[in-house]
Amino acid sequence: MTSDSGASTSNTSNTSNTSTRSARLHPLQAPKGVSEYFPDRSQTFEYVRETLIESAKLSGYRLIELPVFEDTELFKRGVGESTDVVSKEMYTFEDRGGRSITLRPEGTAGVMRAVIEHNLDRGQLPVKVWYSGAFFRAERPQAGRYRQFYQVGIESIGLADPEIDVEVIAVADRAFKALGLKNFTLEITSLGDRESRNRYTLELRKYISTLDLDDETARRAEINPLRLFDDKREEIKSLMSGAPILLEYLNENSAREFERVQSLLTKLGIAFSVNNRMVRGLDYYTGTAFEFVHHGLGAQSGIGGGGRYDGLMAQLGGSDLSGIGFGIGVDRCVLACEAEGILLPDSYLLDLFLVPISVQAKGLALIVAEDLRKEGLRVDLAYGDRSLKGGMKAADKSGARFSLVLGDDELASDLASLKNMKTGESISIKISTLHENIAQFFQMKTGDR
Ligand code: HAM
Repeated sequence: MTSDSGASTSNTSNTSNTSTRSARLHPLQAPKGVSEYFPDRSQTFEYVRETLIESAKLSGYRLIELPVFEDTELFKRGVGESTDVVSKEMYTFEDRGGRSITLRPEGTAGVMRAVIEHNLDRGQLPVKVWYSGAFFRAERPQAGRYRQFYQVGIESIGLADPEIDVEVIAVADRAFKALGLKNFTLEITSLGDRESRNRYTLELRKYISTLDLDDETARRAEINPLRLFDDKREEIKSLMSGAPILLEYLNENSAREFERVQSLLTKLGIAFSVNNRMVRGLDYYTGTAFEFVHHGLGAQSGIGGGGRYDGLMAQLGGSDLSGIGFGIGVDRCVLACEAEGILLPDSYLLDLFLVPISVQAKGLALIVAEDLRKEGLRVDLAYGDRSLKGGMKAADKSGARFSLVLGDDELASDLASLKNMKTGESISIKISTLHENIAQFFQMKTGDR
C-alpha cells in the first residue's frame, strides 16, 4: 500500500477511485490483550453472561451498576498493596483535576465503597447485589488472560452465616451447570477468622524468617506473608512447601463454620474438594474461600472464585460488617463452553431469514418481516439484488433456523416453502396469512435442534 498523502488533495472525479485507495489510512488495532466479541461469537458471550446473571437473580440478588474507574486509594486499601493486582497490574492515571484514578481491577472494593457511601447496610441485611462488566488488569496476555476482561459477580453483605457462604457457592455452581458445563470442579478452603489468622500468621512469619528471600519478596511477605503461597516461581514454591498450613490453625469457631459449609454443600449435592494451599490473589479474604476450575482451559483454568471478607468494610471506613461474594470470568466461561462443544440455545438464534428474489417480492418481504416481528419472531432478510443461490447463502450465514424464499411464482400462488435450515425439510405455507399462523411457526420453533 502506498501512502501518498498528496493524493487526497489532488482528488478529481476522474481519478477519485485511485486516489481514495492510495490515500487510505493505516488501519488501527485494538490495544494488546483485550477481549472483544463480535458476531457470531458475541452471541455465545451474551448467552454466557445472561445465564450467569440469571442464576444470581434466582437467589434474590439485585443489580448494582458502578463506575469502571475509582479513586486509586480504594484498591490500595481494599485489595491490598502486597497483591500483584495492586502492585503491578493496575491501570492508574491522573485525571485532568490531578486526582489519581484507577480502572477497576475487580468489583468487590467498589461495591463496598458504594454500600458505605450510600448507607445500603442500614436496610435489610444481607445486602445482595450482582454486577457485570469490564475489569482491567495489566497482566501478560495469553489465552484466557486479558487486560480488559469481563466478570459477573455477586456480593452478599452484612451477615456471616455459613448458610450464606453456601448460597453464594451454589449460585456459581448452578450458573455453570445451567450453561451446560460439566468438566469443572470446585475447591474450597477456610482462611479462618481474625484470631485464627493472627495465630497462624505468627507461625508463618517465623517460618519465612528462616528463608533466604530477595528484598522484593521479603517486602511482600512483610505486608502479607500468605502472598508467598501465590508466588509462581519454582524456587519460592519449593521453599514454601514446608510452611505451616492455615487449616491446621483454625480456632474452634472457624473450624465449626468450615465444617458446616462442607456439610451443607454435601446436602445440596455440590461436589467439592478441600485445597489447603489455596491463596486467593486479593488480600481481603477471611473464612470460606473457593475457586471453580475448568479442566479444558490449560493454564488459565480459574473460571470463578471468591470468598468471605471480614474487615474489608471497616478497612474502607464503614461499619465492621462481613460479606461474601464471587467473580466469574465471562471470557473463560465462553472458552469453557467452546471447549465442551456447547450449542447456543434456540432463543439466541434468528428464527427466520427471508429471501426475496424479485423487486415485488422485496417489498413484500419487508412487510412480512415486520408483521412477524410484531408477533415476537426474530426475522431478518436478504437485501440487495441477490440470486436465489446468493440469498440462500445469506440465509445460511445468518444462522436462522428457518428460511422462506419469495419470488414472483410464490407471490402469484400465495404459497411459499418454509425450510428448516437444520434438517432441510420444507413445508408449504400461505404467505398472506403467515403472521396469523404463528402457532404453526412456534410448533416448528420448539422442534428438533
Ligand atoms: P478473582 O479471582 O481475581 O476474584 O477474579 C474472578 C475471576 O475473574 C477469575 O476466576 C477469572 O475467571 C476472571 N479473571 C480474573 N483475571 C482475569 C484476566 N486477566 N483475564 C480473564 N479473566 C480473568 C475477584 O475479582 C474478586 N473480586 C471476586 C470476589 C467477589 N470475591 C469476593 N467477592
